Amino acid sequence: MKNYTHINDIDNINSWIEEAKAIKKNPLKDIKLGENKTLGLLFFNSSLRTRLSTQKAALNLGMNPIVMNVSGDAWGIEFGDGTLMNGSTAEHIKEAAAVVSQYCDVIAIRAFATLTDKEKDENEVVLKSFLKFASVPIVNMESATGHPLQGFTDAITISENATKKKPKVVLTWAPHIKALPHAVGNSFVQTMQKMNVEFVITNPKGYNLNPEITKNTPIYHNQEDALKNADFVYAKNWSSYEDYGKVLKTDLDWTITNKKIGDAKFMHCLPVRRNVVVADEVLDGENSLVIEQSNNRTFAAQLVLKKILKQGV
Ligand code: CP
Repeated sequence: MKNYTHINDIDNINSWIEEAKAIKKNPLKDIKLGENKTLGLLFFNSSLRTRLSTQKAALNLGMNPIVMNVSGDAWGIEFGDGTLMNGSTAEHIKEAAAVVSQYCDVIAIRAFATLTDKEKDENEVVLKSFLKFASVPIVNMESATGHPLQGFTDAITISENATKKKPKVVLTWAPHIKALPHAVGNSFVQTMQKMNVEFVITNPKGYNLNPEITKNTPIYHNQEDALKNADFVYAKNWSSYEDYGKVLKTDLDWTITNKKIGDAKFMHCLPVRRNVVVADEVLDGENSLVIEQSNNRTFAAQLVLKKILKQGV
């Protein structure tokens, strides 16, 4: 595995889950593997979990992580080919990616969807430009259309907490006041499609995710019907895909409550807006897995970095 940019870079989800669980039991076992290797983390957007857990994963492998908030601190990067650069951008991705590749053995990138330019988002312009112009492996820390480190983390968390062979997992849209990307929802769908689970999605009309990603996964527009007999309820907001990037609904009738989910385990990638996406009673209750999910981010990232280091960088 040269790069980790998509859930499909996981060749065998079950063996990856077992490998990540083994890392969790003994996180410093491979402390020598990344000695004298540098991980560069480039953030075009905000982060708490991804930033710290990926650095922690690198440190557990003996790597040196270096971090840059690209949007705030670096020169404005131009991604267009043949652009007359007489506007706000000061450095082309061709130079930027080549230069960072000289300082780093692996580059990890976070670059969210614009939610205003569907074509640019679907083409993954930032991620694909780094793949094209960098000379070292690339890790996706959430791109326009996917968050594969989160998706893999969620697979680990479900595997650890499942009490039956084929649990029912429900991905439910939940309200939010802002337009949010589809990346987490997309990667969660793609991950569940690889696992031995009964998986359904529920969202209001107008909020179906990209049908090329949801494929044959059942989609309910009635949340109550979808949540019946759920073992895991994964809540996430996303803006409309059909009416690209628009917020069509902000009332709280899709907010997750204890009454709605019953005995099911509750999952969310965080950060989460309390009492908008999910009620306090759920997050503070014994069935919430959100803190455990965040812990597993380290071990998901650590396995990805370990696999990249093992193939030689
Ligand atoms: N879940 C997640 O990616 O969190 P951050 O945005 O804080 O990194």
